[in-house]
Amino acid sequence: MPQTLFINATIACLDSESGYGLREHGALLVEAGKIAWLGAMQDQPAVSDAEVIDCAGRLLTPGLIDCHSHLVYGGDRADEFEMRLEGASYAEIAQRGGGIISTVNATRAASEAELFAQALPRLNSLLAEGVTTVEIKSGYGLDSGNEIKMLRVARQLGSEFQIRVQKTFLGAHALPPEYAGRSDDYIERVCVEMLPRAHAEGLVDAVDVFIESIAFSLEQGAKVFACAQALGLPIKAHVEQLSDLGGAVMAAQRGALSVDHIEYLAATDVASLAQNETVAVLLPGAFYVLRETQLPPLTALREHKVPMALASDANPGSSPVTSLLLIMNMACTLFRMTPAEALRGVTINAARALGLATEIGSIEVGKQADIVLWNVTKPSMLSYQIGINPCAAVMQAGNWRSQAGLSR
Ligand code: NIG
Ligand code: FE
Repeated sequence: MPQTLFINATIACLDSESGYGLREHGALLVEAGKIAWLGAMQDQPAVSDAEVIDCAGRLLTPGLIDCHSHLVYGGDRADEFEMRLEGASYAEIAQRGGGIISTVNATRAASEAELFAQALPRLNSLLAEGVTTVEIKSGYGLDSGNEIKMLRVARQLGSEFQIRVQKTFLGAHALPPEYAGRSDDYIERVCVEMLPRAHAEGLVDAVDVFIESIAFSLEQGAKVFACAQALGLPIKAHVEQLSDLGGAVMAAQRGALSVDHIEYLAATDVASLAQNETVAVLLPGAFYVLRETQLPPLTALREHKVPMALASDANPGSSPVTSLLLIMNMACTLFRMTPAEALRGVTINAARALGLATEIGSIEVGKQADIVLWNVTKPSMLSYQIGINPCAAVMQAGNWRSQAGLSR
């Protein structure tokens, strides 16, 4: 059985209730794709023919997890970036038929092969920084065929690269033009046709909705959730990004895995996330790109011990960002999160946001061996530096994905 023994490592285990769970002078044994042993270097197990990696004091972390992305889409929205710089708001552009709908047009026009090719550089950017799990949403197809096309591309990315892809159905992302003025009819279509079809193809790990004045109402979101749950699927939601419609509380009360964005979530509503073990997914990339000023309720989230995850929200409109390291920096600089909260946000709490915390997200015996070796010796370096990628080597499920920087 192939074994890899890491020695002389600074290990951020992320196995405790807060902080890094840091072990200095640590050792770690990987066997059969899992973490088999973890402890102090002087106690390392006797192994006869294991591959031995001397980390020379460098940092090991769990593989990074991007728990909210729209990585598969057609075209770009650089022109809207320019319009916003000239004063137009994100909501105004959407109301004029741009925004999400312009990406829907480009995505509908693209073949599966074209969408795959366009997603590749974005995926490569995540891979280069040690991401071992990425969630990818549909939501730019807005009819059965095109939503399924997007999810197939997401699945193909996961089968052609050493990365786990979680696929989320986001049919209720925007109202397609052919349903103008008939949003209830569209939601009905999502529930009775689009979601069941995508699910029947095995393409749906979770169901998301966008609850906002420019998207769907609370009642419409609740209806999609009921349909998802009738199929046994977990739910999550884009809520309180531009205004407070009460979406986060509604989703949490229905047991949502996560509520995402939540800048406009009232501090008094945070308790309901804690009561329902719903993760708060914060997306500083969208906050930054849209030049938002309303901060998420960090103090209340901490007080109620709500797990906070961070994600790229990689999408062509509000967050053309494919660097989780940059997202960690933004979370610290813009949201005043600590570097430890930032690392928890892209590891253990991101795993929770995907319902995968028993399998991945921390370095603990029995968990999948998704491990990154970094060319730094302290974990705050990951949030602190901008523009340097210190990722030295990546192991996914016990197999090397890249080992260029193993020795230095
Ligand atoms: O997470 N909020 C809605 N959806 C995306 C933006 C999608 C887009 O602008 O294309 C988001 O920010
Ligand atoms: Fe999003």
